[in-house]
Amino acid sequence: MFSKLITIAAILSVVTAVPYRLVQRQQPDYPDNGTLVNAPVATNLTRPNPDYNQTTLAAIKGAYTASERLAYIASLGDPNDYFKFDLTPNGSHSNAANGLGGQGYLAHVGNYPVLMGTGLSVAIGYLNPCGLDSIHVHNRATEMVTLVSGVSLKTGFVLEDGYDLPVMVEIGLYQGTIRPMGSLHWEFNDHCEPAVFVASLSNEDPGVSRTAQNFFINPQEIVEANLAYPSWLDSVNTTDYRAQLPAAFAQGAKACYQRCGLTYNPNQAGGISK
Ligand SMILES: *[C@@H]1O[C@H](CO)[C@@H](O)[C@H](O)[C@H]1NC(C)=O
Ligand SMILES: *[C@@H]1O[C@H](CO)[C@@H](O)[C@H](O)[C@H]1NC(C)=O
Ligand SMILES: *[C@@H]1O[C@H](CO)[C@@H](O)[C@H](O)[C@H]1NC(C)=O
Ligand SMILES: *[C@@H]1O[C@H](CO)[C@@H](O)[C@H](O)[C@H]1NC(C)=O
Ligand SMILES: *[C@@H]1O[C@H](CO)[C@@H](O)[C@H](O)[C@H]1NC(C)=O
Repeated sequence: MFSKLITIAAILSVVTAVPYRLVQRQQPDYPDNGTLVNAPVATNLTRPNPDYNQTTLAAIKGAYTASERLAYIASLGDPNDYFKFDLTPNGSHSNAANGLGGQGYLAHVGNYPVLMGTGLSVAIGYLNPCGLDSIHVHNRATEMVTLVSGVSLKTGFVLEDGYDLPVMVEIGLYQGTIRPMGSLHWEFNDHCEPAVFVASLSNEDPGVSRTAQNFFINPQEIVEANLAYPSWLDSVNTTDYRAQLPAAFAQGAKACYQRCGLTYNPNQAGGISK
């Protein structure tokens, strides 16, 4: 029994000795290509979200009860800093998406630790005219998307093998639709004016996996074998190809650009999240 404890203690000390890589909070995960058409205006309530450091995060995580945790967070400063989260470009960096099709902002446990233990996170997506929230998966969350500005949003999800027909829904203003956990899904603003949607997520750490980016990151021969060696890949280096993928939010269908008299930018390089 005693030696077992020593073994466990030894394992724990090895685990705790591994340097903890502190994620830089409030930094964009995506390259700063994005330009937002009709960015939300700053008001006198706008202020940057606060930064947390390793000490404060450890104390928040170490609290045994919600009341201890909230009391500690309250002790950090003004509740207007620590209990609200600003999902606008002026309050936050575009930590969820930043491409030629628009920007996304996510309040999750990493940048808004008051969410710890709540099982909840929320994002706002600002889609430019013809903007596309490209095909992706949330690893740990089901999402409900609600359109709060714009005309309508075309959406689709593919659940899983055996039920792989895309479920396609067009939501109007103040309408919402579900994206089940693990489903491949997308949202497309097929209009000449911007659209804004709110995404409620059923996990404080929802995760996101962009399908094309995380497919083409694999070794060339595996990618080619997955696709049965198509001739269009014969002279393509898939690593270089991946680097040309558009950042989310991407430009949507070319037909939309044409209809709206907008220029589709063929150079969308930089779509790889850092
Ligand atoms: C914020 O601005 C509004 C007008 O836009 C004004 O009515 C309000 O008093 C201001 N609040 C503060 C705290 O300055
Ligand atoms: C972490 O933040 C807290 C609260 O703002 C501050 O008191 C403390 O000095 C900071 N620690 C480090 C190592 O920066
Ligand atoms: C909001 O942020 C943008 C981009 O950083 C900046 O150009 C603008 O001056 C900011 N507006 C205010 C009122 O702070
Ligand atoms: C593809 O290009 C990358 C550099 O962009 C290089 O490291 C890699 O070896 C190339 N792969 C093949 C299969 O040639
Ligand atoms: C987007 O940003 C990346 C790196 O930040 C850059 O390599 C790329 O050329 C940019 N793309 C466009 C279309 O501006």
